[in-house]
Amino acid sequence: MNVDQLRAALPQWVEASRKYTSEGNVASYIPELAKAPAHALGATIMGRSGEVIRAGETDSPFTMQSISKVFTLLLALIDNGEDGVFAKVGMEPTGDDFNSMLKLELVEPGKPFNPLINAGAIAVSSLIHGDTPAAKTERILSFFSETAGGAKLTVNEDVFRSESATAHRNRSLAYFLKDNEVLGEDIDVEDVLQVYFKHCSIDVTCEQLARMALLLAFDGTDPLTGREVVPRRYVQIAKTFMIMCGMYNASGEFAIKVGIPAKSGVSGGILALVPGEYGIGVIGPALGSKGNSTAGVHLLETMSTALDWRIF
Ligand code: DON
Repeated sequence: MNVDQLRAALPQWVEASRKYTSEGNVASYIPELAKAPAHALGATIMGRSGEVIRAGETDSPFTMQSISKVFTLLLALIDNGEDGVFAKVGMEPTGDDFNSMLKLELVEPGKPFNPLINAGAIAVSSLIHGDTPAAKTERILSFFSETAGGAKLTVNEDVFRSESATAHRNRSLAYFLKDNEVLGEDIDVEDVLQVYFKHCSIDVTCEQLARMALLLAFDGTDPLTGREVVPRRYVQIAKTFMIMCGMYNASGEFAIKVGIPAKSGVSGGILALVPGEYGIGVIGPALGSKGNSTAGVHLLETMSTALDWRIF
């Protein structure tokens, strides 16, 4: 299938996948997210010259939520190197829910299994350089904006406040990390949580997500400018985590059915990429039991099958 055929087919695929929104529910544990339209579905695909194919509701911004964890991991790797990051988080999938506490106590006490579960991403937030939470958040925003090709990304303050006011589980995870010295003596737990909630609350559109994914599809060197934004090794690490645990405890099923690196968020966004070809941004706020967009996953499976995208 060529690009013109893909352009022609995408609107039909979006409409065919839309019915799967009925199999999910919009996240409500962050009250502000519950306002999202439950039956929305949209996708933007961006190619190496920045050409865009889109269908469905792609215009409204949504918060990155866990998708941001891929990019804070990249920034933490840039700031601290591999040894610095992996001193605080592991390299293994958990098979548990994204906010689970279970394995935190079981193996290496306090050390989160990987940077994409909430506990791991909170540990990663503590590694971002900057003197204050505001300075760290500014660095995150400016790095994310750079990966989005220079778009000016901002924090959705309503979602930030909503999450911060209700994040009892994340607070307990963070205090557990503090107790186990994964967050060191000089680190204030509330400061780290503020940085974490802020980066989860960064607003993006499908096109901006596709642009960020395109950078990863080209191993950190922007195909539109030829500039290296992220070292290839760090993108390799991020993509490996995306395959192993980007869709949480549905990552194995996603790898078998869709077969490309991807990362979901509880806003219903999914960032996915086809190595050397496409960056993809999908939004479908209705989530299945494991926190991934039901219709978004179905749409990606349809596209991957039709275009033979599976990397394995
Ligand atoms: O910490 C949380 O619970 C949210 N800010 C992010 C979780 C999330 O997106 C999980 N994704 N499927």
